[in-house]
Amino acid sequence: MPVDAPFATMTAPVPLVQFLVFGGGGDLASRKLIPALARLRRAGQPKADLQVIAIGRREMADDAYRAELRKAMPPAVVEAFEALAPGVFYRSADVGDLASLERLRGALEGLSGGREVGRLCYLALKPDLFGPTLVHLRESGIVQRHDHADTAFRRVVIEKPFGHDLASARALNDTAQSVLNEHQVFRIDHYLGKETVQNLLGLRFHNAIFEPIWNRRHVELVQITVAETVGMEAGRAGYYDGTGALRDMLQNHMLQILALVAMEPPTSLEAEALRNQKVEVLRALRVFDREDVARHSARARYTAGKVNGSEVRGYLEEPGVAPGSDTETYVALRAQIDNWRWQGVPFLLRHGKRLPKRMTEVQVQFRLPPVQLFNRPAGVSDAELQRLLRTGSICLIRPNVLTIGIQPEEKIRLSFGVKEPGPQMVMAPASMTFDYRERFGAEPPEAYDRLLLDAMNGDASLFLRADEIEASWRFCDAIRAGWVEGAAPMLGYAAGNWGPEQAIELFYGCEGGWSRG
Ligand code: BG6
Repeated sequence: MPVDAPFATMTAPVPLVQFLVFGGGGDLASRKLIPALARLRRAGQPKADLQVIAIGRREMADDAYRAELRKAMPPAVVEAFEALAPGVFYRSADVGDLASLERLRGALEGLSGGREVGRLCYLALKPDLFGPTLVHLRESGIVQRHDHADTAFRRVVIEKPFGHDLASARALNDTAQSVLNEHQVFRIDHYLGKETVQNLLGLRFHNAIFEPIWNRRHVELVQITVAETVGMEAGRAGYYDGTGALRDMLQNHMLQILALVAMEPPTSLEAEALRNQKVEVLRALRVFDREDVARHSARARYTAGKVNGSEVRGYLEEPGVAPGSDTETYVALRAQIDNWRWQGVPFLLRHGKRLPKRMTEVQVQFRLPPVQLFNRPAGVSDAELQRLLRTGSICLIRPNVLTIGIQPEEKIRLSFGVKEPGPQMVMAPASMTFDYRERFGAEPPEAYDRLLLDAMNGDASLFLRADEIEASWRFCDAIRAGWVEGAAPMLGYAAGNWGPEQAIELFYGCEGGWSRG
């Protein structure tokens, strides 16, 4: 082609993305990652050609792997998978063995169908393999520190858990940063891929009505719940026992939700702008001392009970749980954010397994009106009423609450009071509800679809930065340290209940109680 040929006549090569799944024989690959890629392909995404290379230790032919996938993936995606299948390969390699990864690099070069290969390595591995694998990926030449161009990028996605405490998270961050530049590292938290979680940003920063009241002057408390009905199904205890509710869900998913609810407005939706604001909130979380742990945390474990009509065993009887285990399956906290916006506003966080229903929800509860005009008790003087209200001995007014349903109900509901029809001024509770399905008709896309596409496109805004993870661990480590010292006893709750009764004590006076959806 002549050097001065106009751009329009040049035919740009179609870029190629090599999507490498380390841990390709595992559950995450067959149930979440490959199905997400199949759905993306069906939607014409990404804009490049896509080669999926699953890597595992077993020897297997491509066809055998594809057949295994078809069996293990959700039936609804099998059809979409057929279009992706010819570009799905399987290679055997051992991430712990450098020579094996060097051979893999050779095999990858043999596979490539274009000059410009963007390469994304997804570490769907056991957490203790993340560090050594990163080092071997670099030493084998599968990734390099520099991300030269949009089309020949080198990126690594790291699954959760990212460390099991601050020290291990720091060590892993150090390894990642010794191998790659920060913008090449994508630490995943699948909750950020959920539409309703992203909409926390939309709700707050696209609608001017909320911002003036989104602060300590108007908000009484914020409540965040992640309730699950599941327990230790399908060998889950192997990972869960010794991890527990605080580290499995609160440190990552719940603190990310909290950060989105509480952050200052970002200057743009760029990854750094968003993450700068999130990390500020996480750093402002007051680190619990022993007394806070005793007063402001509750931990518990489920005993046998009934969930959705079926008898289930207690945690200690679950296969794979160590005898005498002190792993919690429920955690509740009354957290404080020490900054100007939120000083004095409690953030009540609660998560548990084997609760009565699956429900992830944020509630922003607003302050009461300064004077109670309506629904006053008969026969109580003004002075007496003021005293009773002040001390929390009576709680008459229902506060306005903005409920943001994350899953499975994807809704936003605002509750308020209205005059009951009739001759007297009696106020009754009412609400307005927005429902995603009613408004948009379709099922919302799966979290992994959005996240994998973003990672292939190099958009890190929904991925976690090293400092966010470290700030979250700092907060959680202090709670665990208090628990280990015995500052808060291990409580119990029968499966199918809303957790230990004592957790209600995290609410004070007329603040109300835990939401039941
Ligand atoms: C995972 C936890 O990160 O999230 C699991 O390890 C939990 O214990 C799961 O069940 C919940 O995810 P989702 O998307 O079903 O709410």
